[in-house]
Amino acid sequence: MKRSLNLILLISAFVFSCQPPTEKGLKDEFQDEFFIGVAVNGRQVNGSLPKADSLLNLHFSSLTSENGLKWSNIHPKEGEYAFEFGDNYVRKGEEMNAFIVGHTLVWHQQVPTWVFQDQEGSFLSKEELQDRMNEHIETVVGRYKGRIDGWDVVNEAFEDDGTWRKTHWYLILGEDYIAEAFKKANQEDPKAELYYNDYNVWKPEKCRAILKMAQNLREQGIRIDGIGMQGHYRLDFPSLDQIEAAILDIHQAGFQVMITELDVDVLPRPSDFDGADLNISIEDSEIWNPYTDSLPSAIQEKLKNRYISLFGLFSKHSDKISRVTFWGLHDGSSWLNNWPVRGRTNYPLLFDRELNLKVPFNND
Ligand code: GLA
Repeated sequence: MKRSLNLILLISAFVFSCQPPTEKGLKDEFQDEFFIGVAVNGRQVNGSLPKADSLLNLHFSSLTSENGLKWSNIHPKEGEYAFEFGDNYVRKGEEMNAFIVGHTLVWHQQVPTWVFQDQEGSFLSKEELQDRMNEHIETVVGRYKGRIDGWDVVNEAFEDDGTWRKTHWYLILGEDYIAEAFKKANQEDPKAELYYNDYNVWKPEKCRAILKMAQNLREQGIRIDGIGMQGHYRLDFPSLDQIEAAILDIHQAGFQVMITELDVDVLPRPSDFDGADLNISIEDSEIWNPYTDSLPSAIQEKLKNRYISLFGLFSKHSDKISRVTFWGLHDGSSWLNNWPVRGRTNYPLLFDRELNLKVPFNND
C-alpha cells in the first residue's frame, strides 16, 4: 500500500507545485521497481507536440510503438516498407534514454491480406509463408538491431480457453510458427529481449496454454524472455487476485512478467466483452456513451482507487515485473474511445485530453 500512496503523493506534488520541485516523474518514483512505459503514436515521436514531449521526458522510462511497427504500417505492400515512424520512434526513445519496445512482429490483426496470398488470391504454401515471415523479421528487426531493446515477437496466439487461435499463421504454418518467429528474431538481434504478448492472461486456462508454449520453446533451446500481460482492465474487473495469480504463475515458470497495455475502461460495455478483440464494433448510442462532457466525480474516484490498487499489486511483485506500460499517453489518444463502440468519450488513462494530470489524482 505504501507504494500506491507514494504514487498519489508524487502526482499531487507534481500537480500542486507550479514548478515540480525536483522534476521527478512517475519513472523516477518507480525506478527501483520497474520501467514505466507508454505506447506512442507518430505525432508523439516526431517532435511536433511539445507538451506531449515534455510528459514523455518527465514521466516515462520505456516506450512501446502503438501502431507504427505493426505489419500493415511498416510493411504495407510486398517489397515496400515504411520506416518513417520507426526511425522517429527509435530516435525519440534514445533521446529519452528509454527502454524501447517493438510491437509487434507476428499477429493476426493489422496485417494485410496479401501476406497470406499469392497474386491469384490463393493461400501460400507453408514454405512461402515462412519465407515471408522470415523476410519481414529480418528486415524490421535487422533495421533496428541494437536500438530496439525488446520485441513483442508474437501477439495473441491463443483463445481465452487456451486453444490455439486459428489464424492464417497457425492454419498455414502450424503450431511451430511461434518457434520459427522467435528463432528468427533472435538470429537477427541476439541481444534484444523477446516476448510473447496477449490479453486476458489472467484467465488460468489461457495462462497455462501460454506457459506451456513458452516452456516448450525453451526446451527446444529457443530464446523467450518474458510474457506480456496486456492490462486492458475495467473498474472492477478482473480482480486483483486473478491478476496476481497469473503474475505468480509466469514468474514461477521462469519468465519475466510485463504489464504491457495498461488502461482502465470506465464506460459501460454492451455485453460481456473483455480483452481486446479488435473485430468487435457496435454502433454508438447515448446509453453506451454517457460521459461526453466530463466524468462524474464518483467514477473519477473509482478510477483513482483502481489505479492505486493495481499499482499496489504491481509494486508488491516488483521483483517479478520488469515493466508497466500504459496503452496511450492521454485519454484523447486512447483506442478505448473507439472500442468496443466507435466514437465514445472514454477516460482510461492518467492524463486528460489537455494532457494534464487528471482530477482524481490531484485532490489527495
Ligand atoms: C491489442 C494489441 C495492441 C492494440 C490493442 C488495442 O491489445 O496488442 O496493439 O491494437 O489491442 O489498441
